[in-house]
Amino acid sequence: MCGILGYIGNRDCVRFLIDGLKRVEYRGYDSAGILIYDGKNTSVVKQPGKIIELEKLIGDSLKGNAGIAHTRWATHGEPGHANSHPHVSNNGNIFLVHNGIIENYTSLKKKLEKESFTFYSDTDTEILVNLIQFYYAGCIENAVKRALADVEGTYGIGVFCSEEPGVLIAARMGSPLLIGIGENENYFASDPASVLKQTDEVVYMQDGEIAVITDSKVVHKTLDDVLLEKDVEKISFELSEIEKSGYDHFMLKEIFEQPRTINDSMRGRILLDEGTTKLGGLSEHPEIYSRLLNAKKIFIVACGTSWHSGLIGEYMIEEYARIPVEVEYASEFRYRDPIITPGTVVIAVSQSGETADTLAAIKEAKRKGATVFGICNVVGSTISKETDAGVYLHAGPEIGVASTKAFTSQVIVLALITIDLARHRNMSFREGYKIVKELKNLPEMVEKILENSEKIKELAKKFSSASNFLYLGRGFNFPVALEGALKLKEISYIHAEGYPAAEMKHGPIALIDENMPVVFIAAKDSIYDKVVTNIREVKARNGIIIAIASESDSEIDLIADYVIKIPEVTNLLSPILTVIPLQLLAYYIAAEKGYDVDMPRNLAKSVTVE
Ligand code: G6P
Repeated sequence: MCGILGYIGNRDCVRFLIDGLKRVEYRGYDSAGILIYDGKNTSVVKQPGKIIELEKLIGDSLKGNAGIAHTRWATHGEPGHANSHPHVSNNGNIFLVHNGIIENYTSLKKKLEKESFTFYSDTDTEILVNLIQFYYAGCIENAVKRALADVEGTYGIGVFCSEEPGVLIAARMGSPLLIGIGENENYFASDPASVLKQTDEVVYMQDGEIAVITDSKVVHKTLDDVLLEKDVEKISFELSEIEKSGYDHFMLKEIFEQPRTINDSMRGRILLDEGTTKLGGLSEHPEIYSRLLNAKKIFIVACGTSWHSGLIGEYMIEEYARIPVEVEYASEFRYRDPIITPGTVVIAVSQSGETADTLAAIKEAKRKGATVFGICNVVGSTISKETDAGVYLHAGPEIGVASTKAFTSQVIVLALITIDLARHRNMSFREGYKIVKELKNLPEMVEKILENSEKIKELAKKFSSASNFLYLGRGFNFPVALEGALKLKEISYIHAEGYPAAEMKHGPIALIDENMPVVFIAAKDSIYDKVVTNIREVKARNGIIIAIASESDSEIDLIADYVIKIPEVTNLLSPILTVIPLQLLAYYIAAEKGYDVDMPRNLAKSVTVE
């Protein structure tokens, strides 16, 4: 979603701001803008569309040593020029970039209209910048603090005031924000990727904090003026991890990274000799961890792809650890008054660690007294801080909007948690040993599937003009069917539905004809025979069968039209292998259609609004 960025120092910062915005393009946006101060004058350039267009518009016309910049994903008002950021106050002196939503903007607008303020956009941001002007009495820091005291909602903001050009103000409530520390220059940014080329030293801001930034120092305070001592941290990834490294798209790079990222998610967490696993993020908090081990009920809350991995977690934990699990869309959980009794534990799953609905679900669960664990990829993210304890994926930055490597790492972490829980309860050493040994072999198995990518590419060419797809799977692979369908619709805009294979008879079967590709996830597992029956049902109606099947399965070759073979693995780990061909199929179909795979229309990588 929106990205914000600011610089103050002694270098010309136009290039840096444009490059920094490009680094957060992956988060999704529909307009971009920049404000530059050249020592005398301020200039704002903004417009709907891509950053490259903004760059062309700017050309060589701008230079300056201070500036703020923004990519906007429309919430209030269409993505036109007037609604793009930076916004400027009525007197032309105060400039604001903002992520988040000001919920009480209507009442603030009325208040300002009574004071003769005029508004030129549909945004809540323009109201905030004028509120800051309203309170301005010679000190921009105080004006921002006073204005934010009136605000309800979420924000990460950056402010420049032409009457105090040596200072930038940043403040945070619910939207990520960090300060980058340079030499005789400093930055603020919503995403570490924006500043990493300049500095790897950052200070992560927390909710309710404000930073007063000059070229030589940064003062951190709470919004009610208490000085804070903040730790400087190192960004946890390398520049090469946020570059395409020769791949056509980040998504393809991330798919091919999975043998390594799966390994990274397991590294140091498998105790082969004990036939179990150990997750430092849990065992280091013995009291909180014991609440998970003794949980009477677990809710898994998440959105999108993370919700699909949560569903696999449900199948795993219930079958192996015998604890009742309910998986909820975070957006539903937060508003439906879920029953949380003593012994209820909530696990929030999120790649970004910033998804607004998941964050709100965590807050609601905590308010009701649940212990909350997080499974996040982004180190230092809001969700990782808001939870009682948790586990990082260590999958490295995921840039492609369609999540791939984070999904497989989430499933790995959920499997590690399941084994740990089960071994504390009812799982024998023998069974634990067998599973952790198979876990260790997964990277090699994934590598093997990836070696087959050309075959999947060929298949993609055949089906790129289909207008509907059906994905069917059962048991552990039912959520994989959902994920395969989601991947395809996200990036290729082909309508696709995922269903439990047997449930197909209760509706989707009506759609099947000779033009309908039906992807069956038919790995050899305990319900393989049932899946084969479902395949025959589709075949009898002339559907086109694409089967993801186990290497040793020759029977399937006789029934399916196209077969993609994968190595054999125990039930619980099957989704980590079966999802890989589906990721590749979606990718190659979208690439074949010429779409912008990494930035699909209307989607955002990190959904920081409700
Ligand atoms: C967006 C992204 C999805 C992601 C979902 C949840 O919709 O496009 O790829 O699965 O948000 O995000 P999270 O960061 O919480 O996993």
